[in-house]
Amino acid sequence: MATRSPDNILLDTSTADVFTYIENLKNNNLTLLKVNSEVMEKNHALERKLSEAAFINKVYASLIERSNLKQTINSILKGAIRITRSEAGCIFLYNRKKDCMELMLTKGHLSGTAKEHLCRMYGSAEGLVLYDSTVQMNNTDASFKQLQAVDSSLRSMLAVPLITEHIFIGAIILLHRHAGEDEHPIYYSKTDCDTVNSFAQVAALILNNTRLKIEYGRKEVYLETITALVSAIDAKDAYTRNHSRNVARLSVALGKELKLTNEELKNIKYGALLHDVGKIGVPESVLNKKDSLNAREFDMIKAHPLIGSKILAPIDFLEEALDIVRYHHERFDGTGYPERLRGENIPFEARIVCIADAWDAMTSDRAYRKALTVKEALQQLQEGAGTQFDPWMVKKFLAMKTKN
Ligand SMILES: [Fe+2]
Repeated sequence: MATRSPDNILLDTSTADVFTYIENLKNNNLTLLKVNSEVMEKNHALERKLSEAAFINKVYASLIERSNLKQTINSILKGAIRITRSEAGCIFLYNRKKDCMELMLTKGHLSGTAKEHLCRMYGSAEGLVLYDSTVQMNNTDASFKQLQAVDSSLRSMLAVPLITEHIFIGAIILLHRHAGEDEHPIYYSKTDCDTVNSFAQVAALILNNTRLKIEYGRKEVYLETITALVSAIDAKDAYTRNHSRNVARLSVALGKELKLTNEELKNIKYGALLHDVGKIGVPESVLNKKDSLNAREFDMIKAHPLIGSKILAPIDFLEEALDIVRYHHERFDGTGYPERLRGENIPFEARIVCIADAWDAMTSDRAYRKALTVKEALQQLQEGAGTQFDPWMVKKFLAMKTKN
C-alpha cells in the first residue's frame, strides 16, 4: 500500500481539504514562530542574567581587593548604578558616634539642589528610616514630589539599606531620570529590587570588613605609638621602669576578680597603661626629686591627669579609657584631684586603677624610700579602704592576693 505523503494528499483530496490543510500549516507555523520567539526571549533574558551575574561577580571581586574605604564606596555605588541601569545614585553611611547618616559619595547626573534635598531627606537622623527596609518611591509619593520639585526629570528612587550581621552601615540611594530614550526604564522593577538587595548584602559585608581593617590598622598604629609613649614615660623615672605595664596587669587581674566583661577589661588595660601619660609634660627633676615637693612642683604633678586626658581625647577608640586617665588620683573620701569626686561618683574603672597604681608604687623602690613588703603593703591598702580606696574593691584585691 502506498504511503500518504504530503504530495499525494494534495493529489487525491478536495480543494476544501487543501485549504484546511494549508490553514493548519499556517497555524502550526505561527505556533512555532511564537514558541521560537518565546525561546529567543528566554535566551535573551538568560544571557542578560548571565552577563549581569558575571558583572556582579566582577564587582564583588574588585570590592574584595579594595582596602581603601573611598574606593570601596566608589565601586559599590558604581556597581549598584550599573545593575539597576540608574542614572544617578549616592551612598550614605551611618555615623555611630553622632547617630546620624552622612553623605559619602554621589554619582551620575544629580544637580546640587537635588543633592541638598537628598541630604535633608537622609543625611541626618532622618536617614535612619532606611534602617531595615528598602524604600521605593515615584511621583505618587509626597516626599518624592518634593525631590522632583528641585529636579523635575527625576522619575523614581530606590533606597536600599546596607546591613551586615544585624549592623546597619548605611544606605544606597538610586535614581532614575527621564533620559529621553523610550526604552530606558524609569521605574524599578521587582527584579531590580531583588538583585540590588542581594548586591547590597554583600556590599555591606565588604564595606564593614574594609572599615574594620582600616580601624584595626589605625588602632595598631596608635597602640604602637602608645606603647612607645608609655615606655618613654616610665623611662623618665628611674624607679618606675615597668610601672605602667605592672599597673595594667594588676588592674586587669582585679577587673577579672570583679567579674567585668572583656570589653571593660580591654578599656581598663588601655587606661591603666596610659594612666600617667600626662607626666610626659612634667620635668624629670620634679618626677625624680628625693626631697619633698614645693607647692609649684606639686601642682605640676597634679596636672598630669588632665594633661593626659587632653592628649588622648582625639583618639576615638580610647574614649572609654579616658576616665581612668583623668580620675585615677581621685580619693574615695573626696579629697583627691583633679575634681575631688567622692565615692561611687569616681568611675569604677578609675577606682580599680587607683588601687593597682598604689600597690605597684608601694611594692617597688622609689627615689625617696625602699619598697614595702607584701605584708606591709596589704596593711596600708586596708588602712586606706574607705578614705583613699573603694573599700569593696580593696576587699576583693586582698582576696585575690591571698589566693595567689
Ligand atoms: Fe598618676
